[in-house]
Amino acid sequence: MGDLSGIEKQALQALAEVADSAGLEAWRVSHLGRNSALMQVFSSLGTLSKEERPIVGQAANVVKKALESAHAGRMEELNAIALQKSLEGDKLDVTLPGRPYPIGRLHPDTRILRELYRVFAEMGFQVFRSREVESDEYNFQLLNFPVGHPAREMQDTYFIEAENRGDNPIVLRTHTSPGQIRAMRKYSALNPKDPPPIRIILPGMVYRYEQVDNSHETQFDQLEGLAVGPGIRFSDLKGTLTDMARRLFGQQARTRFRASYFPFTEPSAEFDIECFQCGGRGCSVCGGGWLEIGGSGMIHPIVLENGGYDPERFTGFAFGFGVQRIAMLKYGINDIRYFWANDLRFLEQF
Ligand code: FA5
Repeated sequence: MGDLSGIEKQALQALAEVADSAGLEAWRVSHLGRNSALMQVFSSLGTLSKEERPIVGQAANVVKKALESAHAGRMEELNAIALQKSLEGDKLDVTLPGRPYPIGRLHPDTRILRELYRVFAEMGFQVFRSREVESDEYNFQLLNFPVGHPAREMQDTYFIEAENRGDNPIVLRTHTSPGQIRAMRKYSALNPKDPPPIRIILPGMVYRYEQVDNSHETQFDQLEGLAVGPGIRFSDLKGTLTDMARRLFGQQARTRFRASYFPFTEPSAEFDIECFQCGGRGCSVCGGGWLEIGGSGMIHPIVLENGGYDPERFTGFAFGFGVQRIAMLKYGINDIRYFWANDLRFLEQF
């Protein structure tokens, strides 16, 4: 019994000196563990007489409970000390501004293209994809630009493979119009005797050897449109483009058509939208108050025939826009060179 109070006293003294959780665990092992003096008292109960056994057993239990509760109390104290220390050490200032996460955005080009897809989808046009690397035949000849035609000069381009190809070198397409031939051939092949009508837009990158300035780049997107069917008229073309401008820019949008020339349309017209940047007064973006958006016209009979559509039965219209020119009007961008300059100060504004 004397032993037990000694065991308790010694253990409690040692516990008062424990300073951290590792020390506390070591204390538990040596004072309450299997080989501790207290546990040896329990193991030796069998050697005691019948009378002594319950008395010593009970007293040992009292000490065990006391040590266990002292252990739990000390653990709480140590946890409180550790918490206090960490609060003092790592001070948290909840008034500091948070760290912003960089958020990805759509490129203005993607935004305007999606907007155009939406507008044309509302008018029943589907997207048709066509290749960026073309042959001279598709880029020019089948569109009624024969070899040596002076209108080719306006699209002086990148020939990427000319050797041994005679009059049919490989080019980076200079416009999306070769997609007209590819689409018409694809649809007319479905039923050559009675080909289906077509109503599509053909978006994509085009490439030209060009003097770069604030409205001209060497690569830019075009959005071609093509409608083929019986009885399609020039008024359908005008209505479609005017409606597009209103859907895109609002009912107040003003448009104009100017007679023009393209070898693959007859008659042909340039299509302009009044400049929103200056309200039509004239500025560095537009020059004279109107921004040239694209070319358009009724599909030339030779082109219809090259596509597999009989010009006696079918007519159609086509147009081709500069997509960046539309984005410039819509978002008030005054220099086309920003689009591919990868300047975050520009891109973050969208
Ligand atoms: C053409 O490319 C014709 N294929 C358009 C066409 C299609 C006419 C179908 C008739 C029927 P043009 O070279 O004018 O035409 O270019 C069309 C539009 O692309 C221009 O009005 C302009 O908006 C844009 N564009 C032309 N060159 C550049 C350039 N260097 N940088 C940015 N946009 C340009």
